Amino acid sequence: MKSKIHKFKVLLLATFLIVSFLKTNAQNGSALYQQNCAMCHGADLNGGNAPSLIDGVWMFGAEDGYLFRNIKFGIAHLGMPSYEKVLKDTEIREIMKFIRESEKKVGAVKPPITKVLETLDYNIDVEVFAEGLEVPWAIDFIDANTALITERPGRLRVVKNGKLQTEPIKNIPAVVNAGQGGLLDVAIDPNYATNGWVYLAYSHVLDHITEGKRPPAMTRLERGKIKNNTWIDNEIIFEAPHETYRTTRHHYGCRIVFNPEGYLFFSIGERGAAEHAQDFTLPNGKVHRIYKDGSIPESNPFFSEKNAIKSIYSLGNRNIQGMAIHPETGELWATEHGPMGGDELNLIEAGKNYGWPVITYGLNYNGTVITELTHKPGLEQPILYWKPSTAVCGLDFYTGALFKKWKNKLMVGALKYEEVRLLDIEDERVMHQEIIVKGQGRVRDVTTGPDGAIYVVLNKPGTVLRLTPKEE
Ligand code: HEC
Repeated sequence: MKSKIHKFKVLLLATFLIVSFLKTNAQNGSALYQQNCAMCHGADLNGGNAPSLIDGVWMFGAEDGYLFRNIKFGIAHLGMPSYEKVLKDTEIREIMKFIRESEKKVGAVKPPITKVLETLDYNIDVEVFAEGLEVPWAIDFIDANTALITERPGRLRVVKNGKLQTEPIKNIPAVVNAGQGGLLDVAIDPNYATNGWVYLAYSHVLDHITEGKRPPAMTRLERGKIKNNTWIDNEIIFEAPHETYRTTRHHYGCRIVFNPEGYLFFSIGERGAAEHAQDFTLPNGKVHRIYKDGSIPESNPFFSEKNAIKSIYSLGNRNIQGMAIHPETGELWATEHGPMGGDELNLIEAGKNYGWPVITYGLNYNGTVITELTHKPGLEQPILYWKPSTAVCGLDFYTGALFKKWKNKLMVGALKYEEVRLLDIEDERVMHQEIIVKGQGRVRDVTTGPDGAIYVVLNKPGTVLRLTPKEE
């Protein structure tokens, strides 16, 4: 009996301690907020000289990690100060907790998808093309009425005549669905009408090497045909040497594009090993060029180098998540995730080295310096870089007939900033940048559809938007 009472007392004390800890935490957060943030974001968090923090809108990233970095390192060019030297990390977390609790109290919700977007040239009608998808990664069109969409956990979905089919394609390759990996890109052969090939890029895992360890994985490419909703005739067209596979689960790259000369380009991120990007005996941190059947062009820049991975086309690419071929020049353009503050747009050319991690405009995510260098002879400069990083993802030139004024302009998606930018490029210089989509969700892919509409894949909330010019 005595011990029961004792146990009860201990429990009571523990509960009391936890509750009062949580309470002081929130109180601390509130006090710290009032001291440091209220003068700009408002005493009630509703905004003032700076935006509201409880309206459900996060312009610079909604997830905790982004919030934390935005507070710790600031957004210098917009007047959001850095609190790195003022607040401890634990204090920043207390403020964040206070912000989240305040959000809950007022019932802040992300505003619904905007029905009409305004841009300099057009008012745009926005409709939901597909929804209820689980982490969609890419979209491509087989014909005017049929789209294929990848879901990262490992499903290939079909939208037919505007309707998402309930049954995914059967028998597609197994993928390792972990971290940033899974089923990533899908690309339709430019001659699909005659040959029927569909290409997939995904994270492939060596499951025979386990020994209690996480099995190593790498980007792999496969092509196949779709018959009766089933993946058939599959051919592996790129597989890296197994000794180069890595146990990390991020930076897989993966975009696939075709140029008019019949080459297939794809990217592999550095898989978390920055220095590998400089080493042509390793596949990661590179752009690769192969023929569509997987054979390797002898004209590849490192083809005759001893020990080189012969498919390598360019080096020093951290994690390319967007690739597109210019419709007139045939040039290969790519967007690459930099570290904090170093997202890049590059014009990729044979044999060139884009510098990661020797040169970069970014910092480590903990704020420390990666390298003092932004330039070095022999290493390419980006055409453009974004500081802070928007988390560039998805890239396409607009080639449709609906938005006539946007012919050949470059559409750049962004995950963290939840936007699509339209870039006007002349003579390899970006002359103008406009945000045409903002705050609708994390943009994974953006593409011109066969109907001339712009399709925007939002990995969260799992929606594909279709944009068309509003009839005035
Ligand atoms: C001197 C004014 C100022 C102070 C003080 C300030 N901020 Fe900011 N904050 C800004 C501005 C300006 C922006 C960017 C606004 C814009 O351009 O949309 C911003 C942006 C932010 C964002 C990103 C919002 C989004 O939509 O993604 C967060 C989060 C934030 N502030 C939190 C804080 C916190 C927490 C504090 C206190 C520790 C703080 N700020 C103090 C001015 C301030």
